[in-house]
Amino acid sequence: MRIDILTLFPDIFTSFLDGSLLGAARIAGLIDIRITNIRDFADGVHRQVDDRPFGGGPGMLLMPGPVVDCVESVQQSDPLPGHLLMLTPGGRRLDQQLVEELAAKDRLVLLCGRYEGFDARVRQTLQPIEISIGDYVLSGGEVAAMAIIDAVARLVPSVLGDEESARQDSFSGPERLVEGPQYTRPREFRGLQVPEVLLSGDHGKIAGWRHQQAVDATRRRSTTELTPATVVTFQ
Ligand code: ADE
Repeated sequence: MRIDILTLFPDIFTSFLDGSLLGAARIAGLIDIRITNIRDFADGVHRQVDDRPFGGGPGMLLMPGPVVDCVESVQQSDPLPGHLLMLTPGGRRLDQQLVEELAAKDRLVLLCGRYEGFDARVRQTLQPIEISIGDYVLSGGEVAAMAIIDAVARLVPSVLGDEESARQDSFSGPERLVEGPQYTRPREFRGLQVPEVLLSGDHGKIAGWRHQQAVDATRRRSTTELTPATVVTFQ
């Protein structure tokens, strides 16, 4: 799979892309990730990429010229055209279903915005698939792009090494359940015991217990409000 990242802040990605899972996947040739600086497509000595909105209003908008030129250049750099994803709070909400759809593609092009957003003609010209990672506003699309790349990479064959591990993740499988509790050694920690069933060696019973725990955890999905009472203190 090839992933292109188009950004005004390439440095944000360096340690993320060299990190363990992605770094190894790139070295192994499983994922080819390339970064392009949108500013390289700006004109003039100042290489201006943003300007004030017509009609007034706060902040600065990304100008259409550098963005569209950048996308066209990156798309043309490979005979295989990529699915163009624009990161914006108004896009389709990212979930595991969408991650699976994206992981099935051979090439993705991720367009990160900054400032107050893009000039509307960027959308009109490029017709991207707009994606949001949640109903909150980030200062740019870079963190959203990293979330997408991280989640997608886990589903690219051979990246995890253990395919079963991705299949057992939360939100995988037809029921899209959250994962239930897991335990490792020691068998007792501060008086808390590992559930007997997990020590039973009965794989059918263990699978049934895990499924029920996942159903319960999905139902209980936290809606906790933050109050002084939710602060946990230690003696
Ligand atoms: N850019 C700013 N906020 C965003 C969000 N919530 N998701 C994706 N891109 C964004």
